[in-house]
Amino acid sequence: MDIKNILSNLTVEEKISLLAGKTAWSLMDIERLNVPEIFVTDGPHGVRWSPGSNFSETKPATSLPIESAMASTFNTELIKEAGKLAAIECHHYDIGVLLGPGVNGKRSPLAGRNFEYYSEDPFLSGKMASAFINGVQGQGIGTCLKHFAVNDQETRRITINAEVDQRALHEIYLAPFKMAIKEANPWSIMSAYNKVNGEHACQSANLLIDILRDEYKYNGVVMSDWGGTIDKSLSHINGLDLEMPGPSGRNVELVNAYKNGKLSIETLDTRVTNVLNLIKKAEDNRRDVSVDWNQHHRIAQEVAAESMVLLKNEENILPFKKGDTLAVIGDFVKELRFQGGGSSKMNPMKLDEILDELSIFTETSYATGYTKGKTSNDLLEEAKNVAKGKDNVVIFIGTTEEIESEGYDRQDMKLPNAHIQLVNAIYEVNKNIVVVINSGSAVETRQIEKSTSAIIQAWLPGEGGGNAIARILFGDVNPSGKLSETFPICLENNPTYGFFPGFKDLTTYNESIFVGYRYYDTKKIKTQYAFGHGLSYTNFEYSNINFSSKEIDCNQKLVVSVDITNTGSVEGKEVVQLYVHDCESYLVRPYKELKSFSKVSLIAGETKTVVMELGKDAFEYFIPHLNRFSVESGDFKVLVGSSSEDIRVEEIIKVHSNDVVAIPMDENDTVLEWLREKETNKIIVKLLKIININEDHPLYAIVLGLPVKRVFAVMKMFGAPEAFINQLEMAVLGDRNSSLMILRKIEEAMIK
Ligand code: GLC
Repeated sequence: MDIKNILSNLTVEEKISLLAGKTAWSLMDIERLNVPEIFVTDGPHGVRWSPGSNFSETKPATSLPIESAMASTFNTELIKEAGKLAAIECHHYDIGVLLGPGVNGKRSPLAGRNFEYYSEDPFLSGKMASAFINGVQGQGIGTCLKHFAVNDQETRRITINAEVDQRALHEIYLAPFKMAIKEANPWSIMSAYNKVNGEHACQSANLLIDILRDEYKYNGVVMSDWGGTIDKSLSHINGLDLEMPGPSGRNVELVNAYKNGKLSIETLDTRVTNVLNLIKKAEDNRRDVSVDWNQHHRIAQEVAAESMVLLKNEENILPFKKGDTLAVIGDFVKELRFQGGGSSKMNPMKLDEILDELSIFTETSYATGYTKGKTSNDLLEEAKNVAKGKDNVVIFIGTTEEIESEGYDRQDMKLPNAHIQLVNAIYEVNKNIVVVINSGSAVETRQIEKSTSAIIQAWLPGEGGGNAIARILFGDVNPSGKLSETFPICLENNPTYGFFPGFKDLTTYNESIFVGYRYYDTKKIKTQYAFGHGLSYTNFEYSNINFSSKEIDCNQKLVVSVDITNTGSVEGKEVVQLYVHDCESYLVRPYKELKSFSKVSLIAGETKTVVMELGKDAFEYFIPHLNRFSVESGDFKVLVGSSSEDIRVEEIIKVHSNDVVAIPMDENDTVLEWLREKETNKIIVKLLKIININEDHPLYAIVLGLPVKRVFAVMKMFGAPEAFINQLEMAVLGDRNSSLMILRKIEEAMIK
């Protein structure tokens, strides 16, 4: 496809037709110019291909664990493999672009679509998205990074206005997009349904042009979410390339906008060129493949195994001993909770059955215990009878699709009462209980903590989940997952409590940058299970932290190394997490933020040196009054550990930067602020001396709280000579560099 040649031969109507899909899942073709039709489909957990939108006929494909789970692997290499697998299956179905991954924020555990987003931490989200995108696009299939931006709830998602301050916008919600564009350059980006600070995301020139194109230098296609285009002309003028789904019933609007000059030919050609480039990339990479479904299934099992998080393991009840009798309880064992509801829902090629997988290790007895979110005395009694007398009991509980899905948010963070009831009932007859939680996001566990010895967060683990959980329970796999989001003790502890999901069409991000562990950690609020937490069947020791330098310029790389030793008796993998704390900052910052991580595998007794590299982005933060990121000179603490609350080694380093972010002091700042600021302290001390206001003066405290500009008016009010006060005012509020010298002259003159 010769894009330039095609562009010069297209009529205006043809150009406009290219700015919308041909069908719900394909882009427009122009047969006479050999522009082919290419296909797109969901989703971030594998190929959900329903030809002709007949969702009852979704083609089988490998169902991967959800994004929350993939992020909990903290294993970018493995997630890249997952992306590769999905891409090959896209080729199999002749799909050109996979609509994922999603990197929206997780400010509240209640958000219904949290399962489809990676993490509460933007760094982890960005790294996981980049890995997945590189895996997919490395196979010649496009991705669609979504939903740009601030689409962090399901409640009224089509009309809601997300009011978010600039720091949270740039440091939390845009950051994963910025990183993924830089590290993986997704072929397309999907604009969000919602408004951001009053503007619909799909037609916000600030988001789609100023930030995405001009600042991030993004050169791919921006497509709307399905049915998310509000004003067709305004969208395309303000940066949207492609309205989905097609066909558009509004092309005439665009023809009129072109004819009346609202839509320039330059803008139209830019949009069309972006769409043609996407079609060309998909077309050039179209190829037949043969899919090794078994190999793909094994990868799905491996991702699931590495994603599961061992939250607690009292008396080392886990791993079970092979042959120990086992009661297996829970409807989720039969009605597998392996994926989330909504557009990412797919038809798994092969689904591991939990009982089959467990029976490899021991004899099992099963009881339903509940059906979806309900139970009964009969079901409870039956479960207790099955559990009585067994060596161990494993109970599968969690959220049901009725309470957690795309399309609606959860009402609370609790597990279904029936599930809690079941666990506590079984505890009456058997104390050796292990609970496996299937959920897409954090749940309260305090209601079952007393009745359980071990808890595994299994997320929604995809088609390989049954095999993964069985192997973890019996020690065939040593769990290595780490929580990609905090499990707070209760919803009331979450900073969005009372505000999420907002009222009618307004949701306010009052917590600003204090999202997830950035909140709990900074405010020292105890959590049930911390971000980055995850136990192993072995233990790891951290020692010997070293730095390439203890003092760097902010444009230099900093290399940090730490020795990790497996001090236990079995092989295991550890996720070494590196956080950075800014010891002194002009604006408030979270106590610490994840800035690097590395997963390392160690046999018993082995030590490896883990090396991590920090760049400028490890120290910078967004300065609203400069509208950019900046690094301030000063001390930073590097903290390395096994979770955000389990820091093992830390050191202070110095970072130098020439950037000054302080807003110059002015007349609106108070006398006290001038006193505290190095730059103005001497001036204000001299002024107070001249006007004889010191600590003993009855008005001293009042004067400290005055804006400097008011001091002079107050002096005049108390009868000071006007000319003299005017002289002082000019000295203090005039050219700052000469203020002190002039004040000294005035003082000498007074003495004379
Ligand atoms: C949905 C989702 C989006 C998905 C699209 C196509 O509404 O918001 O993530 O890719 O429509 O199914």
